[in-house]
Amino acid sequence: KMDQFIADLMGKMTVEEKIGQLNLVTGGEAVTGSVVSTGVEAKIKAGEIGGIFSMSSPGKIRAAQELAVKQSRLGIPIIFGMDVIHGYKTMFPIPLGLAATWDMELIRESARIAAVEASADGLNWTFSPMVDISRDPRWGRISEGSGEDTYLSSRIAAEMVKGYQGDDLAANYTLMACVKHFALYGAAEAGRDYHTTDMSLHRMYNEYFPPYKAAIDAGAGTVMTSFNDINGVPATANRWLMTDVLRNQWGFKGMVVTDYTAINELIDHGLGDLQAVSALALKAGVHMDMVGEGYLTTLKKSLNEEKVTLAEIDEACRLILETKYKLGLFDDPFRYCDEERAKNNILTTAHLAKAREIAGKSFVLLKNENNILPLKKEGTVALIGPLSNTRANMPGTWSVSADLANTPSLLEGMQAALGDQVKIVQHLGANLMADAAYQERATMFGRTIPRDERPEDEIIAEALQVAESADVIVAALGESSEMSGESSSRTDLDIPDTQKRLLEALLKTGKPVVLVLFAGRPLTLTWENEHVPAILNVWFGGTETGKAVADVLFGEVNPSGKLPATFPQNVGQIPLYYSAKNTGRPLADGAWFEKFRSNYLDVTNEPLYPFGYGLSYTTFNYGDIQLDKNTMGADDKLTATITLSNTGNYDGEEVVQLYIRDLVGSVTRPVKELKGFQKVFLKKGESRDIRFEITVDDLKFYNNELEFVAEPGDFKLFIGTSSSDVKETDFSLL
Ligand code: IFM
Repeated sequence: KMDQFIADLMGKMTVEEKIGQLNLVTGGEAVTGSVVSTGVEAKIKAGEIGGIFSMSSPGKIRAAQELAVKQSRLGIPIIFGMDVIHGYKTMFPIPLGLAATWDMELIRESARIAAVEASADGLNWTFSPMVDISRDPRWGRISEGSGEDTYLSSRIAAEMVKGYQGDDLAANYTLMACVKHFALYGAAEAGRDYHTTDMSLHRMYNEYFPPYKAAIDAGAGTVMTSFNDINGVPATANRWLMTDVLRNQWGFKGMVVTDYTAINELIDHGLGDLQAVSALALKAGVHMDMVGEGYLTTLKKSLNEEKVTLAEIDEACRLILETKYKLGLFDDPFRYCDEERAKNNILTTAHLAKAREIAGKSFVLLKNENNILPLKKEGTVALIGPLSNTRANMPGTWSVSADLANTPSLLEGMQAALGDQVKIVQHLGANLMADAAYQERATMFGRTIPRDERPEDEIIAEALQVAESADVIVAALGESSEMSGESSSRTDLDIPDTQKRLLEALLKTGKPVVLVLFAGRPLTLTWENEHVPAILNVWFGGTETGKAVADVLFGEVNPSGKLPATFPQNVGQIPLYYSAKNTGRPLADGAWFEKFRSNYLDVTNEPLYPFGYGLSYTTFNYGDIQLDKNTMGADDKLTATITLSNTGNYDGEEVVQLYIRDLVGSVTRPVKELKGFQKVFLKKGESRDIRFEITVDDLKFYNNELEFVAEPGDFKLFIGTSSSDVKETDFSLL
């Protein structure tokens, strides 16, 4: 039915109208490049626009849709997109924080709620999930993905797609997903945004590609190209990537959209003028042109000059029309424009409750000396720091739709959660950073953090006075939300000096100090780890951060988040990730410095906090691993069991992690690879057997011929509480 409908429609379309469908313009709510779309109304009427992104509300979207449906010659409806990355108006933790929950059901739920809210506000397409693996926390956009690990990111990618798209794409409460940024955007050299990527095929296929493929296998309807160059060919003009890999190898059948002006940027990449690069992108298998209008302004000429074919334009047009068809837009172009739903389905009590739950579960307890946490619900808390009372900082990066009027600051949220059980006194304590110009650069969509231009000593002295009456100090420090995210790469990952000086002064008071750390990436916290008794990493938790922080600090919620990315000791260790190769000169476990071994003179090879790490208020004991057998055949499976016991004083959740090492391979294999995990709730004193099934698929990898194979031989199997705290055993594959 769809094929016939689209064939009939395309039969009526002029070449210009077909090219018009390939044009995606911005509605202007999130501008992330130097070009902004102009003359949108006239272009819609002329059939020169296929999609609009960054425009919201049923009223505005209805008006634009009416122009398309009623005033363009063929009345083809427009698709409406937006970056609904970690929530719509009810904001959830940034994706890196969502990943830290390791809770697939909650992650899917967050995407479902985002879809319900965004679709209630007129949208039908989201530029999410962002599944770029990154092992370089200097890269600001590590905050928008699921971290460093292939397996965890792949699982999350699939859940997000299912959450957005649901079972019925045409329903008015689901969104079409767009997996991005294809590909390898997170491997930008030196962590500098938009920088070159150069990578072996072996690494691409084994480590960086799987999350994109997982999203596509889960049914993601669309794909966004990445800005970067890959082994010499920018992704947006990369036919091997967009056609050979994506379509021929992975069987993707949907449409590919560029990132913001990514076709035009091919000129600066050095591939030619606008006409040439637009033709290159189309021929590569890129269908929709975001903002740059290279397609709109040059494809007809290229067709006349036989630089592109009509078949290539038709193919792109067909895939875009199919996307609209699948969303039900041809049946009812206004099905997403329902003012009642916009009033009733957004920021609901149920959505906010879920946001609070998820935020609490995303926090990672990095340190808790002498069980200083949880705090007692009594007395006075001094909440000190530049992030202690700013709404702008709460939603986290890429939260264009966030509603600050309905987003309590940390102070407001904590007060709302604690009522008058606990008195909170608050002070800014320090500026985010001494350098006002740097702070200014770290803003997006006009969201600023307040500053106090008095001398630093004066501000700190005032904060100490405020803290004098308190029983405990909660220092709200770290990064502002726009110090990570797009175009927010950093080379120094310390908490800014001015905040460190505040922290030192707070510690000198002798009062217990808890660091509530806001961060969009792994930071370097060696000093803090040494000096601060308790550190709770809260990422950017979204709308209900303040309440969730109170929940965790005061023990209503026992922290269960685990790091989805390694926290290095210093920037010089980057890239540092648990699934590295052994090298020919490995250092013995736990050793430090041996001449002519792979290590540094000035720092150990260890991270400060490893992948998978995170404390709880309770303690968990892992028994030894039991295998049902020690060898498995090609069609066989293996069952590994451990007994997990909650040996502490609180009920709690633990993420039990399964890693595998392939000891001998035709290519070098990582020292550990995550292959399974389970998030388990145990009451205090409770024990449970946790079982994992390992199949041959879990042992497969892409060899040098890029065949996906499992090679017979010996393996190690590890189960534990983090990538570096595991029990181990051996098995072999026949
Ligand atoms: O979806 C985003 C992308 O992640 C970065 N550039 C802009 C796009 C649309 O807003």
